[in-house]
Amino acid sequence: MKKQPRSSPRSGKSNRTVSIVGTGSYTPEKVLTNADLMRMVDTSDEWITTRTGIKERRIAAKDELTSDMASKAALKALEQAEVAPKDVDLILVATATPDMLFPATACFVQKKIGAKNAACLDISAACAGFLFGIEIAQQFITSHTHNTVLVIGAEKLSSITNWTDRNTCVLFGDGAGAAVLQHRGRAHGVISTHIGSDGQFTDILFMPGGGSRCPITQENAHQNLATIHMTGKEVYKQAVISMLSASKKALELAGLTTDDIACVIPHQANLRIIEAIADRLKIPLDRFFVNLDKYGNTSAAAVAMALDEANRSGRIQRGDYVLMVVFGGGLTWASTVVEW
Ligand code: ACO
Repeated sequence: MKKQPRSSPRSGKSNRTVSIVGTGSYTPEKVLTNADLMRMVDTSDEWITTRTGIKERRIAAKDELTSDMASKAALKALEQAEVAPKDVDLILVATATPDMLFPATACFVQKKIGAKNAACLDISAACAGFLFGIEIAQQFITSHTHNTVLVIGAEKLSSITNWTDRNTCVLFGDGAGAAVLQHRGRAHGVISTHIGSDGQFTDILFMPGGGSRCPITQENAHQNLATIHMTGKEVYKQAVISMLSASKKALELAGLTTDDIACVIPHQANLRIIEAIADRLKIPLDRFFVNLDKYGNTSAAAVAMALDEANRSGRIQRGDYVLMVVFGGGLTWASTVVEW
């Protein structure tokens, strides 16, 4: 018999459950393969595949903006949820590559999809941003202040990639994923959420230029400061530690064990990181949903895109317990258990 989760940790405050009632995603047309990268930097398909699991990634067109990709994913999610844009009352866009530093990319999405009644803001939590958005959405819905929240993860990482640095340029891609959250009177939905950060690691994954600390000027324009800087080995180590503990925390809050989880949707950064987590959690790798071979690491979009693919392909079914877990620059991490 299916194990019942502990009642939502929020249920003491509210009897409102929160469900993901629609998902959507969008990937740009242009495919950049490992073979293409071999013509750009000193690398090989063998190195990229064995170190990361990535075979290809999508690259947005020059005039294709983060908000364009986000809007396309959002409209698909709204269509599946059978929700009209005018009924969305909050739009959260998680991104490290906003159209502009301000206004929020969420405001551009609002205009593009016609969600005229929504409040809009961006979430800056790097790759962990989409699940930070799920947590924020759940808080707003359970506190009865908002009814329909659109959470989007969208990135145009190609715009902040140093295409001459083989250490990083092979890892990233562009795309967007979205989810619509509502209370729909079901017994469960989002069962547990957990978010966390450790500002001691701001220097292992960051973009030094382009903010107020280091504006891009004529003098420094050639230094690639507005690109991703990363200490790969340290990020790898911290990713395994934080995703492992975040997974355990979400399971503990839900009152469930790894045996109850039908599908794990982890951050899609590197297959070796996912294998390390599967091994330590003692969950067979075939219960992990992986699509990073096709899209690379799309940061805040990654889990959102994977969730949509798992949903639309039937990999997750109504009633399944699904664990999502992410980490990102900051460091930031987040996890959630959802009854689908
Ligand atoms: N092609 C060929 N050789 C390469 C490449 C490449 N693309 N990149 C690096 N190398 C070389 C290095 O120069 C080094 O050569 P050397 O020994 O002669 O100096 C050698 O390969 C080994 O490099 P390492 O950095 O030690 O390789 P490692 O096994 O650590 O793998 C990697 C690198 C894949 C980046 C790994 O550290 C990793 O996955 N880290 C986690 C990073 C990550 O997931 N980042 C995304 C997180 S961002 C986010 O999602 C928040």
